[in-house]
Amino acid sequence: MSYYKIENLEQYFKHYNKSVREPRKFWNKIASENFTWYQECEKVMEFDMAEAKIEWFKDAKVNIVKNCLDRHLAKRGEKTAIIFEPNNPNEEAQHITYNDLYTRVSKMANVLREQGINKGDRVCIYLPMIPELAVSILACARIGAIHSVVFAGFSASAVATRINDCDCKMAITSDGGFRGEKTIDLKGIIDEALKSCPSVKTVLVAKRTNTPIVMKEGRDLWLQPLVDDASDNCVAEIMDAEDPLFILYTSGSTGKPKGMVHTTAGYMVYTAYTFKNVFNYEENDIFWCTADIGWITGHSYILYGPLLNGATTVIFEGVPSYPDFSRFWETIEKHKITQFYTAPTAIRALAKENLEYVQKYPLKSLKVIGSVGEPINEEAWHWYNDHVGGKRCPLVDTWWQTETGGIMISAIPFVTPTKPTYASLPLPGIQPVLMDEKRNEIEGNQVTGSLCIKFPWPGIARTIWGDHQRYKDTYFSAFPGKYFTGDGALRDEVGYYRITGRVDDVVIVSGHNLGTAPIEDAINEHPAVAESAIVGFPHDVKGNALYGFVILKESGENRDRENLIKEINQHVSDHIGPIAKLDKIQFVSGLPKTRSGKIMRRILRKIAEGDYSNFGDTSTLLNPEIIDEIKNGRL
Ligand code: WT7
Repeated sequence: MSYYKIENLEQYFKHYNKSVREPRKFWNKIASENFTWYQECEKVMEFDMAEAKIEWFKDAKVNIVKNCLDRHLAKRGEKTAIIFEPNNPNEEAQHITYNDLYTRVSKMANVLREQGINKGDRVCIYLPMIPELAVSILACARIGAIHSVVFAGFSASAVATRINDCDCKMAITSDGGFRGEKTIDLKGIIDEALKSCPSVKTVLVAKRTNTPIVMKEGRDLWLQPLVDDASDNCVAEIMDAEDPLFILYTSGSTGKPKGMVHTTAGYMVYTAYTFKNVFNYEENDIFWCTADIGWITGHSYILYGPLLNGATTVIFEGVPSYPDFSRFWETIEKHKITQFYTAPTAIRALAKENLEYVQKYPLKSLKVIGSVGEPINEEAWHWYNDHVGGKRCPLVDTWWQTETGGIMISAIPFVTPTKPTYASLPLPGIQPVLMDEKRNEIEGNQVTGSLCIKFPWPGIARTIWGDHQRYKDTYFSAFPGKYFTGDGALRDEVGYYRITGRVDDVVIVSGHNLGTAPIEDAINEHPAVAESAIVGFPHDVKGNALYGFVILKESGENRDRENLIKEINQHVSDHIGPIAKLDKIQFVSGLPKTRSGKIMRRILRKIAEGDYSNFGDTSTLLNPEIIDEIKNGRL
């Protein structure tokens, strides 16, 4: 019997129980049956939660790119590995076969070696969503260099911080990037960043926009001529299971960004396994994840997970609103996408637009639709389910984190019944627990608490680059012996999990614990409201009171504000209770959001408190200009 694919609910429980009772046997069977190893491991897993030391498949020898590419060539050489859908739909899409991708990666890997990059060296990749991004990542992994992809929307200072934190020897960028109507000057940003990055000796520059740029003598090289001259035969580096594969930065609630380190074999096994099951992947499917490869979602579910399964995966260069709001739906139709994976923030933005944009397209190729990144509120869930999934595609709400490497809690399509706003059940190997303030595990169902994971899984990040102590403090000290996620969750009467938001977003009002996410859900259900964010602020009598920042839909803009405030509070009162009513409601035109679509509540909390002294690091904000508007309108 194989554990790689879950076929029905009974099997899910069977696999799940096995993964808890005999985790080593469970994962070792998956690892040895579904991947190519130079040498298999002696010990499947060793861990010490107190020291935050976790090792999977130690001493096994493997190369992840051989598993992504080489082993598929015999059977799938002429199959499309990557569909590149350019920003401008009039530019022809590219279909890159497994054979082509193998050749391009081998050549690029040889270029890296010729430029002095060796196993263990760090390479910063700052590229737009073009095939070279995938090729560069895989080329690093082929020779054992550690890739550190920085999302090509970060500013020069944010790039510099990330390059310096892990002393990258090389940067790979392009002359520019297309994004909707805009062209982004990536090379200019890298030039600015590198003024303070002494470790970078070489910059490889891919051509995309033909923007005139300055090439620095002795440092910058055009990529294409080097690739053209390189041999297409590249012997892969033999990696230990626990050798670092990549670093990916994620923002902490305080301090500088954390360079999460993912290692080779555990990440490989976990992303492949979760991709296969959460998306019900079958051989001829065409998978599209709309994230940027600069985030973990793109690493795990645009590149590694799909390629490890020999799938066809889409790299989309553009944005959902260009040339118009039907771009996603048009692209699904064009490439006959079978699985579509996106973020609630995109769904909410598109749901605000005319329904015709989506209704024009039958979307019959779709089989599974997915959501990731933040809680998906009831309204967005139904819109996505009804208008995109046609009420016939299971909607998987996938909860996970940069730190977890892959999806942790999610329905399995055609296996687990879905429930709106619930991520549902843990995947095999994942043991979630809810903890109370006294650090005790909360047993039973219909309870809420801080979400922890009490046993290691293969995909967990092993450390923070250069700062293991911070890794220990952040994830393993709040609840000793357990991995603390920073999220709160509710477990319903049948054991389904609903992620209620970051635990630090909980506000205690008159001694009542109030999660801001459900209040926002209630507010968002008001027909005039597009989006909202709630924070707490100090209150003489209640301890804390609630402050709401509300964006109105166009249809709501002419409404009387006093009446709206009353109606919104009535909604809150109806959905949660009078205790959750807001003391202040400010109408705003936007909310401060990170590039991954998360509201930066820390800033809203400061504004609500009237403390403008220190907003902390705002380098990840997409729209920093909104801060002044919100400050000026403060109640
Ligand atoms: C945080 C992790 C993992 C991919 C992208 C985000 C929130 C993520 C969900 C979901 C509710 C979610 C959590 C988590 N989150 N997915 N399905 N439902 N919340 O990665 O930037 O590391 O953020 O995103 O709060 O802790 P990330």
